[in-house]
Amino acid sequence: MMNMHAHAQAHTPGSYEVSTYPLAVEGVRLAFGGLKALDGASFHIQPGIITGLIGPNGAGKTTMFNVISSLYRADSGSITFMGRTIERLRPHQITRLGLVRTFQIARGFPKLTVFEHLMVYGDQQPGESIRTALMGSVKARRREAELAEKALSIAARLRLSHVIDNKVTDLSGGQKKLLEIGRALMAEPRMILFDEPAAGVNPTLAEEIGDHLLSLVSDGVTVLLIEHDMALIERICQRVIVMAQGRTLAEGTFEEVRENSEVQDAYLGGRR
Ligand SMILES: Nc1ncnc2c1ncn2[C@@H]1O[C@H](COP(=O)(O)OP(=O)(O)O)[C@@H](O)[C@H]1O
Ligand SMILES: [Mg+2]
Repeated sequence: MMNMHAHAQAHTPGSYEVSTYPLAVEGVRLAFGGLKALDGASFHIQPGIITGLIGPNGAGKTTMFNVISSLYRADSGSITFMGRTIERLRPHQITRLGLVRTFQIARGFPKLTVFEHLMVYGDQQPGESIRTALMGSVKARRREAELAEKALSIAARLRLSHVIDNKVTDLSGGQKKLLEIGRALMAEPRMILFDEPAAGVNPTLAEEIGDHLLSLVSDGVTVLLIEHDMALIERICQRVIVMAQGRTLAEGTFEEVRENSEVQDAYLGGRR
């Protein structure tokens, strides 16, 4: 493994006031019928680092992202972002606060080109197109030019410039993963929730995706990362939270949680 901990900077766990945590989750529960997908999960995310969210299949990680991004409503518990309660906001309102998420399987508009896809997500605020139209054509065109510039620079950053006019459906699996990162960046987020951004890609691209996440963090973005690739988690995460059966089981550095016997048991006995 290369560059292990090269990016880990000294910081004191627990040294932040609660109000300064970008994201705080307290006692979140959500049942699907009799299945407790989230069963009182709690954690606080520290700013300016990548925190890994790991755990066996079915632990509730994706459900946690769905609840944080308000696709699902929790049965109970609280979620705050930048000190604001967000659990009753709609998904687009959360995006507008600067909290965005990516999907395990990229979703979207298959007929669009890469460029068009990025443009759509840059202009996502509801009513935006109506408002833009009312602003008059000069302002509307200026706004569109700004968005286009943003889309081009994000594509360049993700090394997608050469496929910018290709249909999204013609991209390789890896390029779709990169585009999913690009989609999140169009919202100019303060924090991104990544759901398995490197799943199914080759090791070289997985490493590249890790580098992209590190570069986001050096731009001041806070990252919460669900990922099964433990080499990637070890390389880029300063903190790791382990979930199992809807709860947060352990938290610490990668080494700390790896040595934790409860964590080892959860992986061995995890729902598969
Ligand atoms: N929409 C849903 N309806 C019913 N059950 C769900 C739904 N979403 C997730 N689950 C169940 O909740 C549990 C947690 O799933 P998930 O959050 O996807 O786990 P993870 O992402 O950690 O693998 C699983 O048992 C899963 O089958
Ligand atoms: Mg999942």
